[in-house]
Amino acid sequence: MDTIHISLGANSYDVHIGNGILLQAGALLDLARRVLVVTDTGVPEVYAKTVCRQCSSGYIVCVEQGEQSKSIQTFEYLLSELLRLGFTRGDAVVAVGGGVVGDLAGFTAACYMRGIDFYNIPTTVLSQVDSGVGGKTAVNLNGVKNIVGAFFQPKKVLIDVDVLQTLPRRQISNGLAESLKMSLTSDAALFRLFENEDPYTSLEKIVYRSVQIKAAVVEQDEREAGLRSILNFGHTIGHAIESEEELNGLYHGECVALGMLPMITNEDLRGDVKQIYKKISLPVSFPFDVDTAMGALLHDKKSAANGIKVTMVEHPGSFIQKTLQPADFPPLFDIIRKR
Ligand code: GLY
Repeated sequence: MDTIHISLGANSYDVHIGNGILLQAGALLDLARRVLVVTDTGVPEVYAKTVCRQCSSGYIVCVEQGEQSKSIQTFEYLLSELLRLGFTRGDAVVAVGGGVVGDLAGFTAACYMRGIDFYNIPTTVLSQVDSGVGGKTAVNLNGVKNIVGAFFQPKKVLIDVDVLQTLPRRQISNGLAESLKMSLTSDAALFRLFENEDPYTSLEKIVYRSVQIKAAVVEQDEREAGLRSILNFGHTIGHAIESEEELNGLYHGECVALGMLPMITNEDLRGDVKQIYKKISLPVSFPFDVDTAMGALLHDKKSAANGIKVTMVEHPGSFIQKTLQPADFPPLFDIIRKR
């Protein structure tokens, strides 16, 4: 087992990464109390049950799989369960699942009695490399993603890489897009791994390095006052395409992958990244509607009146932050729009 320490003063915590870690939850976490284990219908039941068995008073709540569970209604339901079950300030919430479960359970833990202990056990590549670490918790409201939330760091994160073995390839690629994102802005060596090795057989290495990068960024800028926004590389255009998600059927990581291409300013590098996308089955273009995407981009919460801040990459492992105007975007959309 490897451990990465996230150094955030009083909010510091460890991320344990390795094989068979679900079975060690009782030894690594304080589960000798009331524990609400939150999971969803898309996560193999055995994971939550394995954690619950190691709690002295464990309760499993399983929400519907999908973004619709990141709602005020589901949040209220979880709070009601904590209240009904008599949870006190000394008790804990554990998320066992992907980004939706982590964000929802984390926000519930942040709010119940003004904050009770939260542990995250991410079970998808995307949540292991990115969303499971760093303390962003949230639910959606009126169709606006993550608009109600809190920075609330977990007390510990357990990453069991064995659980990735059963994920469908498309789900793995979805998460790899977020890791590739980090390699482009922050780690040329990780980028070379994507280029030269088979990412599907190097998942443990990729997860470990991604968490190291995420830790370094979050330690410098926990509340996204500046540097942390590099983790949004590719997300401005990605979110704009994703707003049509229900119609276009793309996963989040696939939208981010598309969104990164126009933000790569060096044509040769863009070509190299497309080769990686082909290797891991990420899209290099998509037939979206530019007017709809422009509308979504202008409504995005990151769109400020004085321009839209974006991260761009010229060479792997380094980045430039720029402010673009709405008129700059149509030619950028053209780079990835399939006609
Ligand atoms: N997923 C981006 C962040 O944690 O800041």
